[in-house]
Amino acid sequence: MRDENKIIGTFNEAKEIVLFYGNCLDLLKTIPDDTIKLVVTSPPYNIGKEYEKKLKLENYIIQQVRVIKECVRVLHKHGSICWQVGNYVNNGYIIPLDTVLYPVFTDLNLKLRNRIIWHFEHGLHCSKRFSGRYETINWFTKSNDYTFNLDPVRVPQKYPGKKHFKGPKAGQYSSNPLGKNPSDLWIIPNVKNNHIEKTIHPCQFPVELIERLVLSMTDKNDWVLDPFLGVGSTIIAAIKHKRKGVGAEIKPSYFEIAKDRINKELNGILRTRPMNQPIYDPKNAGKSLTSSPWNSKSNSKQLIILDKKTKYRG
Ligand SMILES: C[S@@+](CC[C@H](N)C(=O)[O-])C[C@H]1O[C@@H](n2cnc3c(N)ncnc32)[C@H](O)[C@@H]1O
Repeated sequence: MRDENKIIGTFNEAKEIVLFYGNCLDLLKTIPDDTIKLVVTSPPYNIGKEYEKKLKLENYIIQQVRVIKECVRVLHKHGSICWQVGNYVNNGYIIPLDTVLYPVFTDLNLKLRNRIIWHFEHGLHCSKRFSGRYETINWFTKSNDYTFNLDPVRVPQKYPGKKHFKGPKAGQYSSNPLGKNPSDLWIIPNVKNNHIEKTIHPCQFPVELIERLVLSMTDKNDWVLDPFLGVGSTIIAAIKHKRKGVGAEIKPSYFEIAKDRINKELNGILRTRPMNQPIYDPKNAGKSLTSSPWNSKSNSKQLIILDKKTKYRG
């Protein structure tokens, strides 16, 4: 059993896991300047989820600015902020929140390094526009001298056996044996009902998404902060890779689930989807119901007979 007293409720730089119950602004004011190596969060999107009150967009932005300013203050000089957002939807039209928030970050002198597209397969089916199947992670840094470790997050090459065919390196393998850069398009399943990490939270992070950010943008023992912690996914990703984690959650039921999941992670019994596990493909897995009956030959005959019958009767 790992020591459950590792989790404390107020910020203390000498500790490892801080789970704050309440408003993130109250947590942030207790964190000293230049402390946090990575701030990663998915703030409320102002779309009327059960944990948020839908505000006028201007008021929502004002609220976000307060939190972002504090996050920039506590951010380490070699640190990063990853703000993960989707769309604000109003009467069926969309406003991508990253476009609205971009000037907030740049006015605070942050530099955008990547606008990562997170693509997933599951979500609402729209009837008057194409169904939304991506959100963005906007990665900003405080300075030009920032932590970025590519090797721990490399992914397998498409053709690992490929060799240089001419020049001084002819015959040698042409790709990096540690894998390739994962690029700025990330295909990672979102946490819906059949995902092993699913809790009652309507939009929790898949832990593997945060693991990639933690591994690339921090070093061991660095602090990772999530001001809108939900059910604790960010702290779980931090613990997995020996970083320190701090977060705030205002809703008691999510806070309790976060505490439970973090304890399970400390005890090595939390189930999470492993990083880089291939995306499940029901066809490759040999599942039935993956072909349309109306396209198969035997059924089309059946339909013709039925059609004829109908015609005859008519
Ligand atoms: C989009 S969810 C984040 C979910 C999280 N990424 C996870 O993996 O569970 C936003 C969360 O912020 C919480 N929240 C909203 N306003 C807050 C505030 N002022 N301080 C702390 N938490 C807040 C909500 O209750 C909600 O759980």
